[in-house]
Amino acid sequence: MPDLLDWTDVSDADWNACLARARQHRQAHRSPSAYTDAARGKSLGLVFYNSSLRTRTSMELAAVQLGAHPTVIDVGHGVWGFEWERGVVMDGGKAEHVTEAVGVLARYYDALGVRVFATLTDRLADEQDAHLKTFAAISSVPVINLESAKFHPCQALADAATLTDRFGGNVKGKRLLLTWAPHPKPLPQAVPNSALLMATRLGMDVRLAHPKGAPLGADIVAQAEAYAQQHGASFEIVHDVDAAYDDVDVVYAKAWATPLVYTDYDADETFRQTHANWTVTTDKMARTNDAAFMHCLPVRRGVVVEDAVLDGPCAIHLDQAEYRLHAQKAILEWVWGLRV
Ligand code: CP
Repeated sequence: MPDLLDWTDVSDADWNACLARARQHRQAHRSPSAYTDAARGKSLGLVFYNSSLRTRTSMELAAVQLGAHPTVIDVGHGVWGFEWERGVVMDGGKAEHVTEAVGVLARYYDALGVRVFATLTDRLADEQDAHLKTFAAISSVPVINLESAKFHPCQALADAATLTDRFGGNVKGKRLLLTWAPHPKPLPQAVPNSALLMATRLGMDVRLAHPKGAPLGADIVAQAEAYAQQHGASFEIVHDVDAAYDDVDVVYAKAWATPLVYTDYDADETFRQTHANWTVTTDKMARTNDAAFMHCLPVRRGVVVEDAVLDGPCAIHLDQAEYRLHAQKAILEWVWGLRV
């Protein structure tokens, strides 16, 4: 049975099947057929190193609605703190090595989800998604990435389904702007990476906008270019915060840290403060084709985006959040080989 660490590891056929299945689950939402026994007898361990509202609740519900039994494991909160490094003498505060912890959990559960964000201090580890890969290498049961240093595949499938529904089943030819946004804290790049790869894989015409100095990884950009080429779609990177909005059908906003965060934390903070004009505003949205506004949540009102945009008719961020439930049911079915 497969892991879901990142959709780039997954065939087009399986990606498209999961997308279609998520949309079927959406149609059954709040009806008796939303509850199936497809996964009765299965168990799901959800390991969180970082906070979550949507992922933990929607994943628990997804498992329950399929008849499976979920458990949430909050590392460091009623659960031993884990040591990640191999070969260390564990005479500090961490009581358990991840080797034993994951090894044990894999004896109990039929799949494990894990959320482990970027360190934002160890650039190499973050670029290699080292913690997620260590976890997956230890586990003998499928591992689902609940957001790692580099990817958020559950969010990506939910976003793909939200967009596909929004445009009546076919997003090809639609233009999506993925824009950097300000934030009081440095944030990882998992969501923008996954959003960029999702939109280009769907064959949308994609514009990535960020201030000079806040790039996404070269490997992510190269993969996005490859997807765009595969679909005969366009992909461009722009740095004009206003013109970026011209003629787009979707605006997807997300804050992310600059590479400065690894070498000079204060410089990254200054960069974010200097680019406060990248907030999504009604004036900027007025330049679009009446675009839908997307954000993965949680969102900082008045910093990332003006209240009037979030509270206006173009905002579909709650649709995205709702789709997490349906997408994750499709993902659980896929990793357990139940259908799709
Ligand atoms: N978008 C998302 O993953 O939300 P949470 O961090 O609340 O899980």
